[in-house]
Amino acid sequence: MARPIYINKKIKKYNKSISVSGDKSLSIRFALLASMAVGKSKAFNLLHSEDIKNTLNCLKKLGIKIDLTEKYCQITGNGLNNFKYKNNLILNAGNSGTAARLISSIIIKSPKVVKIIGDKSLSKRDMNRIIEPLKKFGAIFFNNKGTLPIYMRGTPFPKAINYSEMRGSAQCKSAVMLAALSAPGITKLKCKPSRDHTELLFKHLNIPIKVKKKKNFDYIEIKGQKQFSSFNYNIPGDISSAAFFIVLTLLSEKSSLIIKNINTNESRTGLIAILNLMGANIKFKNKKIYKGEKIADIQIKSIEKLKALNCPTKYNSSAIDEMLLIFLVAAKSNGVSYFKGLSELNKKESPRLNLGSKILNLMGVKTKLTNDSIKIYGNPRLKLDKYYIIKNYLKDHRIFMMSTVAALSIGGNWKIEDSDSIKTSFPSFLNIIKKLGGEIN
Ligand code: S3P
Repeated sequence: MARPIYINKKIKKYNKSISVSGDKSLSIRFALLASMAVGKSKAFNLLHSEDIKNTLNCLKKLGIKIDLTEKYCQITGNGLNNFKYKNNLILNAGNSGTAARLISSIIIKSPKVVKIIGDKSLSKRDMNRIIEPLKKFGAIFFNNKGTLPIYMRGTPFPKAINYSEMRGSAQCKSAVMLAALSAPGITKLKCKPSRDHTELLFKHLNIPIKVKKKKNFDYIEIKGQKQFSSFNYNIPGDISSAAFFIVLTLLSEKSSLIIKNINTNESRTGLIAILNLMGANIKFKNKKIYKGEKIADIQIKSIEKLKALNCPTKYNSSAIDEMLLIFLVAAKSNGVSYFKGLSELNKKESPRLNLGSKILNLMGVKTKLTNDSIKIYGNPRLKLDKYYIIKNYLKDHRIFMMSTVAALSIGGNWKIEDSDSIKTSFPSFLNIIKKLGGEIN
């Protein structure tokens, strides 16, 4: 059985300052763009995790030179579409949806068929969402079932496209943006807002891009075929990793925490907006701007009284990876919370909407679930004193970490399987828990 952890004590009160590892979205984007830049690019504080390792291994197989040390990651790019590789290439994205979807788009001009594979969880996820636009650019897919493995051959003459992205998915948007780099002419996107790191990096690299943010949609235009120079990047801490400690502190007794140097880009801070609406008082300190990204230290204190919320759907995309944690807070809040428009949540590393509801039910919390919404009947006096087992969740790292936070902040005896899952996004998670005083066996 895959390495379980056991927790049978709540965490004692703490007053500390921590850092978390580098932002996963930015780490992957750095690697992909550096592989297409001209010259040597260097990232500091790149996330060292399985998702990034898989991304780097795919790039190495595409002929890119990568030097990875404890301190930095140096990538030598050969310019746009200068990948060199053998026939019958297989690229393994492991557990990473972002890697699988974005790597397919950077090989839009591949003259050879490339097979892209992933692990059990990734092989269940929808690939048609990027196959459709990449076909419009001119790529060819063989034996397409809409999931991995995919067999793809690029086109020597990609055509600029017009594309509407209606899911609020940054992966789909970024897949189109990266493919647009190779197409002559102007690719035009109309997108439901989602994390905008790719747009900010394009601007920083002087890639011709125009972005207009209107009420419900972002309109993006990219002029392709412009080479760009190598660059250096200091990757800030990942708010999606900080999120576990934000909620742990909020739900624990008399504790406070500062999390240093976090990317607080508004397209990522839905969790904080939602928690503050529920009565939290989370603050940003030492704010600064770095290459278009907003960076800050995050300050959190425990709160006894939290109130339920009818969550505005405008926060769904900017809180998409934190929804499980938000459900946990709703379970400890006064009243019935309602979250809707969340069908995308069942399309992540595991069906998170369904599994989130199941875990709350296991904890004795009533929920009403549909295929895209959940009502959570919160109880501020929620006490856990039974034995809870978390298993069979497709090793979804965020389910593991959310369950750990539930056990340490609300109590009960827990066995949580598959601790290895944290290697995909946040290998130091349990070490930081221990540093804060959490007892894990
Ligand atoms: C990501 C986008 C989100 C998110 C994922 C990382 C990215 O996925 O869930 O963890 O780096 O672009 P979608 O764009 O599919 O919503």
